[in-house]
Amino acid sequence: MIIKSLVRKVAMRYGKLAGLYRKLCKPAGEEYAEFLRRHGNFYSVGRHCSILTTTVFTDPAYVRIGNNVHFSTCAIIGHDGSIAMLNRAYGVKLDKVGKVDICDNVFIGYNAVVLPDVTIGSNAIVAAGAVVTKDVPEGAIVAGVPARPIGRVDDLVDRLEAATNRLPWADLIKQRQGGFDPEMEPMLQRMRVTSFYEEPKPVHFSDTEYTSLVQGVLAGRS
Ligand SMILES: CC(C)(COP(=O)(O)OP(=O)(O)OC[C@H]1O[C@@H](n2cnc3c(N)ncnc32)[C@H](O)[C@@H]1OP(=O)(O)O)[C@@H](O)C(=O)NCCC(=O)NCCS
Repeated sequence: MIIKSLVRKVAMRYGKLAGLYRKLCKPAGEEYAEFLRRHGNFYSVGRHCSILTTTVFTDPAYVRIGNNVHFSTCAIIGHDGSIAMLNRAYGVKLDKVGKVDICDNVFIGYNAVVLPDVTIGSNAIVAAGAVVTKDVPEGAIVAGVPARPIGRVDDLVDRLEAATNRLPWADLIKQRQGGFDPEMEPMLQRMRVTSFYEEPKPVHFSDTEYTSLVQGVLAGRS
């Protein structure tokens, strides 16, 4: 515990022990974004961002990140790796590096790949698995390979709001502070599982638990 907090302090303050910090402290997205904002060698990182330790940035120096930008496990690519091969094979001296400029309020989904020379406009969503090769317009949802607009974030919010209000646990969501409440989570999980599978999660016992349970029942009968 003391070691963890020491490693976190050293990493946050001086940018040292980064590998140990990731392994030992397993920082959540918001904390890790703050670490990268201070020490990640990005062009810049805004406030209220979330970046996972599994998110890949090949060239952070060319990446600008706005405020409230959330990354899942995805890859932001800043250069074309084929250039080194071409330089040797053709005896040429090529260069192909580009910026990735991500404006405010953007979410980038799981396994998405953003290629160099792309600007992602504000209030946009990049769907899971998308390969972004061109600029993403402000307010757009893009998906697919190559990524193309499939909708507007404003419409998605309206649909999600209506769908959330219809949930059997809508009242709990309204009471929840922030996006995750560890005290409320077990109750929410039980309600969701019961609704998804129309019965609660089955309880599995280990052999020892099962034996002592049976023994308890038999002892109660005798
Ligand atoms: C894009 C996303 C936000 C949903 O947007 P949506 O507007 O609700 O999309 P819908 O589910 O209504 O689908 C609209 C169309 O887009 C398609 N689509 C949705 N998500 C897609 C995706 N990831 N890739 C390709 N196509 C997708 C649907 O198949 C549908 O196509 P159709 O009209 O031909 O049937 C969601 O699918 C997504 O990818 N979320 C990210 C999830 C994620 O990465 N989580 C990480 C956890 S950290």
